[in-house]
Amino acid sequence: MSKQAEIIIEGKSYQFPVIEGTENEKAIDISKLRDLTGHITYDIGYKNTGVTKSAITYLDGEEGILKYRGYPIEQLAEKSSFLEVAYLLIYGKLPTAEQFKNFDTSIDRHSMIHEDVKKILDGFPSYAHPMGVLSSLVCSLTAFYPESLDPNQTEEQVDNSIIRLIAKMPTMVAWAYKKSKGRPVNYPINDLDYCSNFLHMMFANPTEKYIVDPVVSAALNTLLILHADHEQNCSTSTVRIVGSSQASLFGSVSAGINALWGPLHGGANQEVIEMLDAIKADGGDVQKWVAKAKDKNDPFRLMGFGHRVYKNFDPRARIIKKACDDILGKLGVSDPVLDIAKELEHAALTDQYFVERKLYPNVDFYSGIIYRALGIPVNMFTVMFALGRLPGWIAQWKELRENKEPIGRPRQIYTGETDRDYVEMNKR
Ligand code: ACO
Repeated sequence: MSKQAEIIIEGKSYQFPVIEGTENEKAIDISKLRDLTGHITYDIGYKNTGVTKSAITYLDGEEGILKYRGYPIEQLAEKSSFLEVAYLLIYGKLPTAEQFKNFDTSIDRHSMIHEDVKKILDGFPSYAHPMGVLSSLVCSLTAFYPESLDPNQTEEQVDNSIIRLIAKMPTMVAWAYKKSKGRPVNYPINDLDYCSNFLHMMFANPTEKYIVDPVVSAALNTLLILHADHEQNCSTSTVRIVGSSQASLFGSVSAGINALWGPLHGGANQEVIEMLDAIKADGGDVQKWVAKAKDKNDPFRLMGFGHRVYKNFDPRARIIKKACDDILGKLGVSDPVLDIAKELEHAALTDQYFVERKLYPNVDFYSGIIYRALGIPVNMFTVMFALGRLPGWIAQWKELRENKEPIGRPRQIYTGETDRDYVEMNKR
C-alpha cells in the first residue's frame, strides 16, 4: 500500500497520500485538504510548500548538491557551454551535434532586435537602472510578436519565442548598458559565440578595435551556466505563477526579471560588492561587520550569506570562489576586496551565530568580484544574473505549459476587520 499521512483535526482523522520524487524527496499531497477538512495550510514564505512536480533541476540544500536534468553542476560548469546547457534545460537532454548546430544557427539568426525597440530604449533616462530597462524591453517583445500572446499557439510558435528570447537577450542587456553610458549601441556579430558576441556588444566602441579576450569569454560562460536554473526560487516561481494565467513567455520572463531585482534575491550580487567596498573604505575590520550582522537591532545583514534552501555550502559558491582566484590571476587583476571577502567568509564560518543558523556563502558572494574583473559595472551585476537565469525561466514556463498546470492562486487567513457599516465622511 502506498504511504499515507494522517492529519487529525478536532479528533477526526484524515488520510493523505505521500508522494516521492526520483531523488526520494517526500511530500504530503494535500490537494484535497480543503474539500475534506475545510482547512487550508498556512506556510508564510512557502518554506514547506511544493508547488509543482518538476523534472528540470534537483537541489539538495542539506548536502549542497545541484543538478540540471540529472547532470552535476560541477561537470557542466567545467565542460559545457551556456548554449548547450540552455538546450539541456529547455528540451530535457543534451543536444546531438546536429541539434546543437541548428539551435546555435537559429539563435544567431534572431539576435537583432526591431529598430523600434531602440525608440523605447531612448525613452529611458540614462540613469535608469538597467534591470528596469531590461524587463521593459523583454515585455515589449509582446508588441513585436503578438502571436506569442495566444495561449493556443503551436509548439513551433512557442519554439520561435524561445529562440527569439535567448537570441535577443544579450543584445537587450548590452543595449541597456550602452544606454546607461550614453553611448551608441553595437549590433550583434553572428560569427562570434554567444558569450563573445555579448562582450563585443557591451565593450566595443566605434573609436577602437575590440578583441574579445578568451579568458573573459570563458569566465562568462562558466558564470552563466552556474546561474542557469535553480528550481522554484522567487523569480522562477514568479515566472511560473504569471505563466499559469496563460500569459506569454515574454510577459512571464519580464515579471521574473523584476522579482530577481530585489536585494534579497538576485540584487544581492550588487549589494555584496557595495558591502565589501564599504568594509574596505571603513578600514577593513571584518569582525566589526560580522558583529553588525549578528546584532538584531541593526538591520545590516551579511549580503551573499544565507540561503532559503542551502544549509550547507552552495555548490555554485565553491566553483565561483575557485574561478575567482583563477580568473583574477589570468587577467592579472588584483582586487583588494577579494581578500576582504575571504576574510569575511572565514570570520563568518567560524562564528557561532552563522554556524548555528547554517549560514554559508551563496552564489552571489564571489560572483560580483569576477564580474568586476571582467569589466562589468556594478549596476549590471543583477542584469548578468538575469541573462544567465533566462534558460531556467524558459524551461520552467514551458514545463508548466506542457503539464497544463492550473492557474496559481494561493489562499489566505483573513485577519482584518469583520463587519462594519459605512459612515460617509468625505463628499464624493
Ligand atoms: N546575515 C545575518 N543574519 C542572517 C543572514 C545574513 N545574511 N541570513 C539569515 N540570517 C539570520 C536571520 O536573521 C535569522 O536569524 P534568527 O533565527 O535569529 O531570526 C536566521 O538567520 C534565518 O534567516 P531567515 O531570514 O529566516 O531565512 P530566509 O530563508 O527567510 O532568508 C535569505 C534567506 C533571504 C537569503 C537570507 O539569508 C538573507 O537575507 N541573505 C542575505 C541576502 C542574500 O545574500 N540573498 C541572496 C540569496 S541567493 C539568491 O537569491 C540568488
